[in-house]
Amino acid sequence: MAKKLLVIHGPNLDLLGEREIDVYGKLTLLQIDSALKNLAAELKVDIETIQLSSEGDIVKKVGAAKKDGFSALVINPAAYTHYSIAIRDAVAAVVIPTVEVHLSNIYAREEFRHTSVIAGVATGQVSGFGLNSYLLGLRAAVELISK
Ligand code: DQA
Repeated sequence: MAKKLLVIHGPNLDLLGEREIDVYGKLTLLQIDSALKNLAAELKVDIETIQLSSEGDIVKKVGAAKKDGFSALVINPAAYTHYSIAIRDAVAAVVIPTVEVHLSNIYAREEFRHTSVIAGVATGQVSGFGLNSYLLGLRAAVELISK
């Protein structure tokens, strides 16, 4: 049976395509999800993609990921990246490989974005490549569970 991976998009990412286009580009979340699904089919894995705006919903979804049959997680925690200890603890607790992704290069932006409280418990991070951050993140996650 094909392995199942979970992709979580955090708050405001549902606004992609109209939100700060100079920073995040013109692609909508639907287009990103569709590119992820195409790559998943190519890599012969199943993926579920979900956008969640509230911290508690993300904590619950991450916390249940292993029990729900997911082998790995790709997450763009959006603004929560920079301060959510609750999401960090959920990622630490879930013990499945987790790749943190960001469309923009968070280290090249405002200083408050330079810190990721998630990075220390993620397996790795991809930041700054737009859609490719997600695609590289998915490839990395699939590689991690293929060993
Ligand atoms: C983001 C970067 C965050 O700083 C920001 O709050 C976001 C998106 C990115 O994908 O570049 O909402 O995670």
